[in-house]
Amino acid sequence: MARLSVNINKIATLRNSRGGNIPNVLQTALDCEKFGAQGITVHPRPDERHIRRSDVFELKPALATEFNIEGYPSVEFIKLVTTVKPHQVTLVPDAPDALTSNQGWDTVKYHAFLNEVIKECKAHHIRTSIFVGTNPIVIEAAAKAGTDRVELYTEPYAAQYPQNKEKAIKPFVEAAKVALECKLGINAGHDLNLMNLRFFGDNIPGLLEVSIGHALIADALYFGLEKTIGLYLACLTP
Ligand code: PXP
Repeated sequence: MARLSVNINKIATLRNSRGGNIPNVLQTALDCEKFGAQGITVHPRPDERHIRRSDVFELKPALATEFNIEGYPSVEFIKLVTTVKPHQVTLVPDAPDALTSNQGWDTVKYHAFLNEVIKECKAHHIRTSIFVGTNPIVIEAAAKAGTDRVELYTEPYAAQYPQNKEKAIKPFVEAAKVALECKLGINAGHDLNLMNLRFFGDNIPGLLEVSIGHALIADALYFGLEKTIGLYLACLTP
């Protein structure tokens, strides 16, 4: 069964909109774990508009499950992750001011850069994952750059799912097969939700982990966090 890592950026967005400490990011992360989440993901951005550096330092010793930090591998980001040492770092190519991650890496063009960053993470015993689209060439190049895993950027799947789910999943199944041939672990994320998650999990061979934030936190407004996490876990249960 693929593991569910809850992305708690939106909890920090809500907190920061008022100042103060409501909702409490750390407590929410601990509650996600208590309700069954198998990991916590954060994306500390340079402007700290949601997750702050201080959140990252607070979360690491408190979490009992897998801690995944995603972000663009700037010098500051690498310094942060090699100090905090999460279980996994997910490298995304987005600009600091991007609203959200909106594309995968060009692993061919950035081979040397990614290779250096991955070496640095591995020297600190941190598992690496590279955010990628479904192009097989990009996935093969991700493997050559030395990463442990890829995270498939699922926005195109989610966008097409309501019209034609078979067509939407096809490139992702092909990409997963290439990743497995390259001995890469497979994660996935972006715009996964209660409608499209089961079909994704049922069809992607070797899927290890999904990281889900926006839809899950929005669903929690209606169902509550405990029930919502249960519903997402149920989608991932074969
Ligand atoms: N994976 C990556 C690399 C992301 O940047 C994000 C959004 O922060 C997610 C997964 C989760 O996407 P969503 O919030 O749409 O579930």
